Amino acid sequence: MKGLFLTLEGIDGAGKSSHIDALEALFKAQGRQVTRTREPGGTPLAETLRGMILEQPMDALTESLLVFAARRDHVVRVIEPALARGDVVLCDRFTDATFAYQGAGRGFDPAVLSTLEKWVQSDTEHATKGLLQPEITIWFDLAPEIAAERLAGARVPDKFESQPVEFFKRVAAGYAARAKDAPRFVRIDASQSREAVWQQIEAALAERGLVASQSGGAP
Ligand code: TMP
Repeated sequence: MKGLFLTLEGIDGAGKSSHIDALEALFKAQGRQVTRTREPGGTPLAETLRGMILEQPMDALTESLLVFAARRDHVVRVIEPALARGDVVLCDRFTDATFAYQGAGRGFDPAVLSTLEKWVQSDTEHATKGLLQPEITIWFDLAPEIAAERLAGARVPDKFESQPVEFFKRVAAGYAARAKDAPRFVRIDASQSREAVWQQIEAALAERGLVASQSGGAP
């Protein structure tokens, strides 16, 4: 069976992580093996880098290099082998987050990010047209003001979560720009109820033939 690379994206507080259990169950119910993972992270080295990226102040180039270093290790050790086995890879964030957060959010040069993207994602077994990319990206689109309300008091905020709403407006615009030219993006209206959001996800997967049918209720 052919591997499937699916990513989840959106600003902090958009609610993407709360649907991963249900996505895993949905694909398993279709007889698929699932590899669940996240970025930054997914390997011991990348998880160590994640701690640094989320906690320590650094300039945008340093941050971008660390994010892509973590990604390279993750791609080589986890994502590529899982796709080669025919797994569904459910990845909580990938390179779109770098263009949205470091590029649009922090104002870092997207041309440099594109170069790093090519270095990290070209030289891989599953690279199509020269670049390993997700087959489908579920983008949880939510107004930054609502996301901030949802996040408030939820947990101790990390370096990104404690950014002002203006930062997240830029990040949200970064996602929108990235989605504009990429048919792999599925925009989900994340302002709806959890159940309605799940229904949008299921419908999008069924429409693309990635799951056999809409099999039921909310997570
Ligand atoms: P998470 O809380 O969804 O796991 O994401 C961790 C944080 O890292 C989130 O605030 C977004 C940020 N991030 C980047 O800034 N650049 C990246 O490339 C990735 C993958 C995440």
